[in-house]
Amino acid sequence: LELQMNLEEIEKGGYDHFMLKEIYEQPRAILDTYRGRLLADQGIIKMSGIDQNLEKFMNANRIIIVACGTSWHAGLVAEYIFEDLARIPVEVEYASEFRYRNPVITENDVLIAISQSGETADTLAAIKLAKEKGAFVFGVCNVVGSSIARETDAGAYTHAGPEIGVASTKAFTTQITVLTLIALKLAHEKGTFSTSKYHEYLAELESIPAKVEKTLESNELVEHISDIYKDSNNCLYLGRGYNFPVALEGALKLKEISYIHAEGYPAAEMKHGPIALIDEQMPVVVIATKKGHYEKVVSNIQEIKSRSGRIIAIVTEGDKTVKELADHVIEVPETSECLTPLLTTIPLQLLSYHIAVMRDCNVDQPRNLAKSVTVE
Ligand code: G6P
Repeated sequence: LELQMNLEEIEKGGYDHFMLKEIYEQPRAILDTYRGRLLADQGIIKMSGIDQNLEKFMNANRIIIVACGTSWHAGLVAEYIFEDLARIPVEVEYASEFRYRNPVITENDVLIAISQSGETADTLAAIKLAKEKGAFVFGVCNVVGSSIARETDAGAYTHAGPEIGVASTKAFTTQITVLTLIALKLAHEKGTFSTSKYHEYLAELESIPAKVEKTLESNELVEHISDIYKDSNNCLYLGRGYNFPVALEGALKLKEISYIHAEGYPAAEMKHGPIALIDEQMPVVVIATKKGHYEKVVSNIQEIKSRSGRIIAIVTEGDKTVKELADHVIEVPETSECLTPLLTTIPLQLLSYHIAVMRDCNVDQPRNLAKSVTVE
């Protein structure tokens, strides 16, 4: 037993929990994800699973993304990226709904299944259904040789390394990285934007690990904020556009490991319900980065403020407007709008982590949850 405990300590590499270790591994994990694939200087994205099946993607009527949990959130981010950059229609579905709702699937559809473990039962069943109907099925998995990796026609691994913490962190950001690479590659093939814009995106993606590293420097500030809100019963997360799925993911993280009720919403939907919950007790986490509906989010912040809500804002470095309105601001470096989720998600992971630790929760193995759900 003692030996096992020591082994676990070694595996945690000096961190108190696997989750924290995995949060900090993200600069490296993202780099490992695009290593050998993103050749920014040459303007090339090399992905054999896409290269060998390029026609399937180029001729696809639409892309259907299926996944569960955090992987489903990565799928939602991908929907914005694929549609915005590559101009390919995308639908994102919970695998558990897709498999049972008699969906319309044709041979001209491409189905992308996203799964960290590659073993999620519902996702696997959705793949089998799509294959039966003749769709081309592509997998984005982390675990090499997993069932989903074997069941799909082609795929791309995330190369995030083993993720032990039940709450997914580096798997999420590396899934987004893979999907961004695919979207950029297809966009370039289709010629949906200029070559100079394409090169700009590649360079920007290449700089993400360093920017994640920089974002991690907010850890102490986030810990301080966590201490103020650790006893909350509810928390609201708001974001728009690319950062709407990040709001969902932030709320999921808080629920999963600190057992605080949290909801993620597209910021503008606030007035159709959640605004009724806002009072001076209610922390509202708002993602308000400079690019992407910034003014609209600022006016949402004003609405929260006028109802005495407590605002924790994720902003772009140097922001002044939100700083004056929010109770707390956490800065992230500037980047292309489509890449902001890779940065804005980091402080939300840290926030849920610190709150869970302060509430004495079992961070790495939260109650009732499993790392991989291999039964229905
Ligand atoms: C479980 C895990 C989540 C994960 C989800 C999907 O609920 O606790 O962290 O996001 O399954 O898992 P997958 O391995 O398919 O990504």
